Amino acid sequence: MSARAIRIEAVERRFERAGQSPLLALDRVSLDLPAGSFTALIGPSGCGKSTLLRLVAGLDEPDGGTLQVGGAAPRVLQRQGRLGIAFQDASLLPWRSVVDNVRLPLDITGQRDAASRERIADLVALVGLQGFEGALPAQLSGGMRQRVAIARALVTEPDVLLLDEPFGALDQILRRTMNVELQRIWLRRATTTVLVTHGIDEAVFLADRVVVMQGHPGRIAAVIDVPFARPRPLALFGDAAFRALEDEVAGVLYGHGTGAPA
Ligand SMILES: Nc1ncnc2c1ncn2[C@@H]1O[C@H](COP(=O)(O)OP(=O)(O)OP(=O)(O)O)[C@@H](O)[C@H]1O
Ligand SMILES: [Mg+2]
Repeated sequence: MSARAIRIEAVERRFERAGQSPLLALDRVSLDLPAGSFTALIGPSGCGKSTLLRLVAGLDEPDGGTLQVGGAAPRVLQRQGRLGIAFQDASLLPWRSVVDNVRLPLDITGQRDAASRERIADLVALVGLQGFEGALPAQLSGGMRQRVAIARALVTEPDVLLLDEPFGALDQILRRTMNVELQRIWLRRATTTVLVTHGIDEAVFLADRVVVMQGHPGRIAAVIDVPFARPRPLALFGDAAFRALEDEVAGVLYGHGTGAPA
């Protein structure tokens, strides 16, 4: 198994609920994500996307089934600093500046050389935060905080990148810019990437495979391959074949309702 491939087999995650039967957040979810692939996870709120991502990140344990990243338990990769994660909420350290928040994963692994300083500066520029290097999270907008979290996820040049709705708080224009930037980074590094998103357009633009989930219990409803050649230009968003694929994803998504408990 390649060092960057992700294998998810019949994974279950159950949450106890007082006075009720346990909630089946993930019900026998299986996915094989090849090394260097880009997967988008989409589905209604509460269908288990973040739960699945946390399992792949080694931050939680399944109640059944197995997960492997590069042939080992996810925690192994996480401990080696080869996993980059950006959560739904930016989760920055409030007492650290922008630069020091981006630097955090490198501090943990003890890297403080000139090359890493340069990489941090590049990443801050990449996410459009020049001039805010010394700002504290409280002095930033929600979208700016999210961009710091993305830069932080990339700073170790990880083998596996897990992004949980990283662009949700960004305006449409910036989102598009970040979509293109993320594609550029991915093409350069061949990082195995899993992106959780509520944006069908974003999923189809970025991914080579869109995994549509349904909720309660959390299951995979469909896996839709995206064939467009890369690099994909912004003009693709208006393309008829692109729209047709968006419709296909939407069809599966809305065919399964809103994800409310049955
Ligand atoms: N730690 C937890 N304890 C109890 N229930 C949980 C826990 N984490 C998640 N759940 C439940 O599991 C289900 C899936 O939650 P999850 O956060 O994975 O959804 P999601 O697909 O990421 O939704 P959203 O799009 O709103 O972020 C939900 O019903 C949620 O209430
Ligand atoms: Mg979530």
